[in-house]
Amino acid sequence: MNDRLLLALKGQNYDRPPMWLMRQAGRYLPEYRALRAKHAFLEMCHQPELITEVTQLPLRRFAFDAAILFSDILVVAEALGRPFAFIDGRGPVLTHPLQSAQDVESLPEGGVDLLEFVANGIRLLKPQLQVPLIGFCGGPFTVASYLIEGGTSRDWRKTKRWMFSDPKSFHQLLARIADVSIAYLNMQIAAGIDVVQIFDSWAHVLAYPQFREFSLTYMRRILEGIGEQVPTILFCRGSCLYAEDLASLSPAGIGLDWTGDIKAIRARLGSKPALQGNLDPDILYAPQATLRRAVDDLLQSMRGDPAYIFNLGHGILPDVPLESVETLVDCVKNCVKEVLCRP
Ligand code: CP3
Repeated sequence: MNDRLLLALKGQNYDRPPMWLMRQAGRYLPEYRALRAKHAFLEMCHQPELITEVTQLPLRRFAFDAAILFSDILVVAEALGRPFAFIDGRGPVLTHPLQSAQDVESLPEGGVDLLEFVANGIRLLKPQLQVPLIGFCGGPFTVASYLIEGGTSRDWRKTKRWMFSDPKSFHQLLARIADVSIAYLNMQIAAGIDVVQIFDSWAHVLAYPQFREFSLTYMRRILEGIGEQVPTILFCRGSCLYAEDLASLSPAGIGLDWTGDIKAIRARLGSKPALQGNLDPDILYAPQATLRRAVDDLLQSMRGDPAYIFNLGHGILPDVPLESVETLVDCVKNCVKEVLCRP
């Protein structure tokens, strides 16, 4: 069992840093695209055999140090009676987005049993893995924004209008999402995942007071709801700016976006929590020499840090050259002799 990730999350990794990539099981992989030509995205999320297969695609090609469960943060909406469709070229679409406090009241209770296919996928997958399996859910603010906007938004206007004009029902919605996410994560943990990551991807659109009130509060609620069963990583865009607030919840790790100096953030926070990130995902479009230099600089800046996890600052994009991912893996795995951690 490769336990670099688990060691780094405890601040005890004295080997090269573990590496995995957010959205590593996705469209940049030709073998993913080949499977997708045969199956709809949701069909892939719903079938335990396909969950098992897709989760392992990136591991076979790149031997990453962790697997992330193949699924989506919006699968949880099925448990709230509001299933998303995924439409090619458009992404997730909800035909009847939430519009009122009454819509929130009418969300059904306790639908997490409907997500049993995820637990079945985890149980099938787990014995086949030699690396830790990361389970996940969306941050309540991010999931709420999809339920209100009906899809990905450019300006989150409906969401923020609701948040500012009727904070009470907005809080009710966030609490409902947090509670169903807790039940969902507890189901994932019981089925065998080793690590949880919470993706509050769109938290960066909030001003600081609203970040604390509407994003952080509900990440805390989820952390309290799952307790210490497995280590948890909190990721959000805006995490470089809000690193202290995220650290104040005492997660095992924080996923940093690419906007800040990770070394300076480590200096500000002290030795805990583990820090994950934070290469700009777009640098995978750069010439290979530029990419190598950036990765080496990042590794150098975190040299000797036993609680560092290599990752991008957000998900890998669908059209990056595979050669760039190969370069990335090569740099982390082979160019780090001089950046190996020492006890
Ligand atoms: O990381 C992984 O490889 C595991 C699986 C995973 C997916 N989505 C698969 C997926 C994870 C962890 C997610 C998280 C997710 N989904 C987030 C948070 C992380 C982030 O990137 O910000 C968000 C906001 C979503 C919502 C979502 N799902 C969107 C906006 C889209 C369409 C656009 C896009 O980015 O692809 C999806 C679809 C989706 N989720 C795909 C995959 C592989 C592509 C579906 C396809 O094959 O067409």
